[in-house]
Amino acid sequence: MTEAVRFEDKVVIVTGAGGGLGRAHALLFARHGAKVVVNDLGGSTHGEGANASAADKVVAEIRAAGGTAVANHDSVTDGGKIVQNALDAFGRVDVVVNNAGILRDKSFAKMEDADWDLVYKVHVEGAYKVTHAAWPYLREQNFGRVIFTASTSGIYGNFGQSNYGMAKLGLYGLTRTLAIEGRKNNILVNAIAPTGGTRMTEGLIPPQVFEQLKPELVSPLVVFLGSEACEETGGLFEVGGGWMGKVRWERSLGIGFDPRAGFSPDDVAANFARICDFEGAAHPKDNIEAMKEMMANLQKYAG
Ligand SMILES: NC(=O)c1ccc[n+]([C@@H]2O[C@H](COP(=O)([O-])OP(=O)(O)OC[C@H]3O[C@@H](n4cnc5c(N)ncnc54)[C@H](O)[C@@H]3O)[C@@H](O)[C@H]2O)c1
Repeated sequence: MTEAVRFEDKVVIVTGAGGGLGRAHALLFARHGAKVVVNDLGGSTHGEGANASAADKVVAEIRAAGGTAVANHDSVTDGGKIVQNALDAFGRVDVVVNNAGILRDKSFAKMEDADWDLVYKVHVEGAYKVTHAAWPYLREQNFGRVIFTASTSGIYGNFGQSNYGMAKLGLYGLTRTLAIEGRKNNILVNAIAPTGGTRMTEGLIPPQVFEQLKPELVSPLVVFLGSEACEETGGLFEVGGGWMGKVRWERSLGIGFDPRAGFSPDDVAANFARICDFEGAAHPKDNIEAMKEMMANLQKYAG
């Protein structure tokens, strides 16, 4: 059977691919014919230290299976070097999978600036640097696929993860705007919120469930989103354990007050249940759609 999702002559960068989810993504991209840059700094889950062997081992695995890959050991905060490595090794870059990540969990009361800053730096600044360095090449060739790794901790919140949740939902904000800016150059940009049994979640997920949440179960969606077969952009997908689904914004129909007559906090209080009532809710796709109700309200009460 011929596969629709193939990557011959395509170059894929997967950051943080020395283990966990990134390793599974890199292996699957390579199995589907991509040339892969396996990036990993090789530090601890807390973002300490560095070790070249993590990326090297995954490259060896890919090559042993007949695939093509090179290792890169730079931090994602040096994103330009990773993209340059792809260009030096393979002459192009087509797909960027921003996957590298660390944790510095602490309740907000105990959060220190260093924990806040490092989580921001690796997840947000790192994804920015790699993607920003690749962007001109993706535009120039009128093809690109970018995947950001968000988290349910960003979407829904999670105790002790204010820094991580901020960074992860920030990446979805980045996804939304890059989807708009990239569309005319066939650069499609999506985000995933994965769940997988990796060193990051070891001890947090009950052992039997951990075993079942194989990282490989996340990768088919990532490889599809990285392919020419994908036409989706600006999407956010929860994925894990063999299940995947799409997340979107939902907004209540809301309530319009007369802007000229004015209204008080008591009016808001009296109508708060209606403001929060999702019966017949809308799903605005962009800024213009989002502003329609507000504009209609201005018009309704205009002189
Ligand atoms: N495992 C989950 O359930 C889960 C849930 C939500 C989000 N995520 C996200 O998925 C991604 C992968 O996580 P994982 O669970 O596979 O954990 P992991 O620790 O196995 O993988 C993360 C990899 O990123 C690398 N890395 C860290 N900092 C780096 C840097 N500055 N430059 C380059 N590489 C760096 C690490 O060395 C590591 O190999 C992360 O972004 C994580 O936040 C994971």
